[in-house]
Amino acid sequence: QMRNALNNLADTVTDSAQRARFENEMDSFFALFRRYLSDKASGTALDWDKIKSPSPSEVVQFNSLTGGSTSNLDKLAVLKLNGGLGTSMGCVGPKSVIEVRDGNTFLDLSVRQIEHLNRKYDADVPLLLMNSFNTDADTAKIIKKYQGHRIRVRTFNQSRFPRIFKDSLLPVPESYDDDVDGWYPPGHGDLFESLISSGELDALLEQGREILFVSNGDNLGATVDSKILDHMIDTGAEYIMELTNKTRADVKGGTLINYEGQVRLLEIAQVPKEHVEDFKSIKKFKYFNTNNLWINLRAVKKLVESDSINMEIIPNQKTISKGSSDFNVLQLETAVGAAIKHFDKAHGVVVPRSRFLPVKTCSDLLLVKSDLFYLEHGALKLDPLRDGFSNPLIKLGSHFKKVSDFHSKIPHMPRILELDHLTITGNVNLGRNVTLKGTVIIVCNNGDRIDIPNGAVLENVVVTGNLTI
Ligand code: UTP
Repeated sequence: QMRNALNNLADTVTDSAQRARFENEMDSFFALFRRYLSDKASGTALDWDKIKSPSPSEVVQFNSLTGGSTSNLDKLAVLKLNGGLGTSMGCVGPKSVIEVRDGNTFLDLSVRQIEHLNRKYDADVPLLLMNSFNTDADTAKIIKKYQGHRIRVRTFNQSRFPRIFKDSLLPVPESYDDDVDGWYPPGHGDLFESLISSGELDALLEQGREILFVSNGDNLGATVDSKILDHMIDTGAEYIMELTNKTRADVKGGTLINYEGQVRLLEIAQVPKEHVEDFKSIKKFKYFNTNNLWINLRAVKKLVESDSINMEIIPNQKTISKGSSDFNVLQLETAVGAAIKHFDKAHGVVVPRSRFLPVKTCSDLLLVKSDLFYLEHGALKLDPLRDGFSNPLIKLGSHFKKVSDFHSKIPHMPRILELDHLTITGNVNLGRNVTLKGTVIIVCNNGDRIDIPNGAVLENVVVTGNLTI
């Protein structure tokens, strides 16, 4: 039934070149769908007793790396995952076009980082963006401004797969150009396939580029590190995953394990319920995946061409409106980190936390916009006064969910160099030149409003209504 439905979809494409590409895409989707059904039937649960902590050689400490030449930069290309939208932060368009610092978007900062690298070392490292059908048009407009800069920016699109109805397991779209709600980008695990089908992988190999440094578009800490690059080349590892120490704030992140002698990524979704607490333990699983990955391109080519990459499928349920009804739909996704098990000599490198600076919420945005960091050639550097301390824990309530609300309530970033913990809930507005130190909790009840005046210094206080303790 699915095969028929996909053939019918293909019949709705009129242009022959478009049709060839679309059929290809539907073949990949069909393979994923079939694997989803067979996994569901046979179960793919890991045997918990076989899960071991990785051996010391499988998690190398960053501090023990000795390289750091720049002679391997001519083998490197950098890729930013750019398929995601800014919806969870209340923005329309690609997440990478959200302004993060001094008028620069995520994309601007990535470009400035690579441009600086190229200028400083007289290199020509290209920047690739893997877009999705959701982000491609907006990204194209924005990167025009980098023509004439010392950087080659290439973009390609990841796959567009049909969502499926949860009940019937049949595709939602009825034709190739059905509205966007019927389609989805199938997660960043799609990278391998899309690198090949777009022709970008062959183009890179032709230029002598062998290693791809991949990271999330919203991770401002993911800068090119020549020590890791040299380490990768010296050890002949085909895949390196940057890990960082887990704290209680990130117990849900995927972790590296040794399973039957093989290095693997273990995600919380794969963990049987009775072992979830075990999984969250920061003693047993000390590190988590930053999604900064170094991948050998020849190995990718070999694996994709022999159809050998099988990443665990993550079924993601959504609700969409069609006509006047709502439907539960599924989108089958994969994650790029799950491919680690297929690569030779793959291992983790435990990097400092500063290489993992993601912006998922406006609480994260406050952090990266604050005086805790300064900008240097597109990279965020921690103020030396804060060296050796962990970042403050910031929790902004639902009034600060959208970037636009965040900006109107906090138009000027407070000084937080000496802050440990900040919680703000309710209709709270910060004035200019506010300083926050220690633990600051501001709670405004429904219907009330709290204005923190210009120049206020709050240190270890709880503010509720008009009451200051
Ligand atoms: P997300 O921000 O959506 O996911 O994507 P996450 O839950 O934090 O993911 P992990 O666990 O860190 O991997 C992470 C990056 O991947 C891109 C997003 O644009 C973002 O830069 N992405 C996500 C794609 O490029 N394509 C996709 O289909 C999904």
